[in-house]
Amino acid sequence: MRACIAGWGAAVPDQRLTNADLEQLVDTSDKWIVERTGIRERRIAGSGETTASLAVEAGTAAIKQAGITPEDIELLIVATATPEQPIPHTGAFVGEGLGLRCGSFDINAGCAGFVYELVAGAAMLTVGGLGHVLVIGAETLSRIVDPTDRGTCIIFGDAAAALVLEAAPDDAPGILGWDLGCDGSATGLLEIQAGGSRLPSTPETIAAGQQFIKMQGQEVFRRAVRAVVDSATVALEHANVGVDDIDWFIPHQANVRILEAAASRLKIPMERTIVNLDRFGNTSAASIPLAIAEAADEGRITDGDLVLLSGFGAGMAWGSVVLRWGRA
Ligand code: UT7
Repeated sequence: MRACIAGWGAAVPDQRLTNADLEQLVDTSDKWIVERTGIRERRIAGSGETTASLAVEAGTAAIKQAGITPEDIELLIVATATPEQPIPHTGAFVGEGLGLRCGSFDINAGCAGFVYELVAGAAMLTVGGLGHVLVIGAETLSRIVDPTDRGTCIIFGDAAAALVLEAAPDDAPGILGWDLGCDGSATGLLEIQAGGSRLPSTPETIAAGQQFIKMQGQEVFRRAVRAVVDSATVALEHANVGVDDIDWFIPHQANVRILEAAASRLKIPMERTIVNLDRFGNTSAASIPLAIAEAADEGRITDGDLVLLSGFGAGMAWGSVVLRWGRA
């Protein structure tokens, strides 16, 4: 058996945060943000919008697009670094919102989370003989960003996007190869320090701003390019395809300079690289499926296309997937 992509859907908040808005909040400029990141605006969850509410909207759209019903979903996975609550897992809220009673669990692998859940969902589908698995990447990063930290508040945004995985025969389109990895010696490069067992939240941690995301941007940047190139190369080998066979490269939308550097080293032209971070910023686990959903809606990705996905982020965790677009 193989896991093919049967449906997709996305949800973004209406509220936009432009570079001009950020100029009013921190010492930055539209010129700097565009030149250094490629981002022009991001979406920000309004009051009442949460990680789960965005995930439900995206999941509903993906189920509809696949032409199935919620009863057909036999497993739900939600990748997020911004869970609805610490307990229970976000999948419980999302499953309830979608009317599911199947098993669900969350994956937190930062910005590589979507690739991880795609691999996990496909593996469980094939090993468990499931018909359909719903994988959703959903984030409300605006809730964990320090609005006074110009190193992070300019890049992150909120969104959710989902894919329906469907059981298909061995010779059908679907997931052909993958690679996952994590270098836990670099956990301090991108982290939220407080709120877990190592450092429970206290008035002191709050006063010190340790509930906010902290990032050593330059070093993350350097490692990101290397991780994407190395991981994509391994996934291509596992899929037994060459880089010239790739129709679409869809990297995690972190910074356009990372995307350009990785694409250049992989020798994939930018015309075959999907970029939408200019309008949504870095939406962590939601970024790859959001780019997929948009490209599929626009008819850029079509049946038979060979697609290379690659994500990286906190951990530092990374992962890549090679898949053939289309349904059995
Ligand atoms: O998604 C998970 C993984 N995350 C990423 O992949 C993010 C990777 N990192 C990045 O995208 C970039 O490192 C950033 C966009 C975060 C920062 O860009 P950079 O080109 O690495 O900037 P920098 O930190 O090296 O700073 C360069 C200069 C500094 O000024 P001086 O010391 O040269 O005078 C900073 O203080 O730019 C200054 N700077 C800013 N200026 C205006 C830093 N942030 C800003 C800002 N606006 N927002």
